[in-house]
Amino acid sequence: MKILILNGPNLNLLGRREKSIYGSRSFEDYFEELEKDFPDMELSHFQSNTEGILIDKLHEVGFSYKGIVLNAGAYTHTSVAMSDAIKAIDTPVVEVHISNVYAREAFRHKSMLAAYCTGSISGFGLDSYRLALEYFMRFKPKQIG
Ligand code: DQA
Repeated sequence: MKILILNGPNLNLLGRREKSIYGSRSFEDYFEELEKDFPDMELSHFQSNTEGILIDKLHEVGFSYKGIVLNAGAYTHTSVAMSDAIKAIDTPVVEVHISNVYAREAFRHKSMLAAYCTGSISGFGLDSYRLALEYFMRFKPKQIG
């Protein structure tokens, strides 16, 4: 089961960026743990700070992979283009956030993407990604590709 974890802007700085909110662990380090804990999944991850590159990646995998775990960072709150891309592809997308966006500034309470995702997970630290993978493990979304 091929699953892509797609990280948007500034998430390359996890472990160094606003540690009180996002923690002190790098995503690469956490990803190694996920690979060990989900041996039956073909996990990959990709990060970009650029909206168009994230959209290209959604197009690239979105007709063949079984699932996408998407943390679009601040594009969550702004990007009509990313919401259109999620609508355009077949692969189900689960939106994740490390922080509890509803406990933060009002502009983070709105997601442009959530309505087109299978669901959203927010506020569990890096384990928001793990919970999204649990979903893909247990609920086996409709077979595609
Ligand atoms: C984030 C929340 C966003 O509001 C913020 O812009 C991010 C990270 C999170 O994972 O908590 O970059 O998506």
